[in-house]
Amino acid sequence: MNKELSIKLLNDSIAEELHAVDQYLYFHFHCEDMGYDPLAKIFYTTAITEMRHVDMLAKRVLFLKGDVEMRRKETVQKIHEPKEMIAHSKNLEQSAIDAYNKRVKELADNMDSATKKLIENIIVQEDGHWDDFDTEEDNFKNFGDKYLVLQAIEHSKKAGKGEE
Ligand SMILES: [Fe+2]
Ligand SMILES: [Fe+2]
Repeated sequence: MNKELSIKLLNDSIAEELHAVDQYLYFHFHCEDMGYDPLAKIFYTTAITEMRHVDMLAKRVLFLKGDVEMRRKETVQKIHEPKEMIAHSKNLEQSAIDAYNKRVKELADNMDSATKKLIENIIVQEDGHWDDFDTEEDNFKNFGDKYLVLQAIEHSKKAGKGEE
């Protein structure tokens, strides 16, 4: 096993996960500000899961005696339209799934089964995220702008009860 190669693949993965944390938190802030509570919550919990992925990957880097670079793959896309946020998030998950699947192959060639297994477990969760965003996209298609109206009403109801 070439440890340096595994460490590089892990740090590349961390850079993507950190970008996902930034992007989903950004979407969370804006959805919350607009009063779209259910969407804001989805982005928040997804960001937390991506942060857990960073944690899992970083632990493996240190186990292999490397260091965690904490790079960001890219800067946040400043999208403010909820429907566009969902489309962008679905793409982000799809590119994560594709990149991880390539790394699984490279890790198999590198005979690093433990890192490969770790990444395979993460892929299952990214698949779940893709599915969550796909469901949201369907909701927008089925209910149109009414979907956001319903979310805003829920927010106002809670505010009226003094829960916020
Ligand atoms: Fe992730
Ligand atoms: Fe994800």
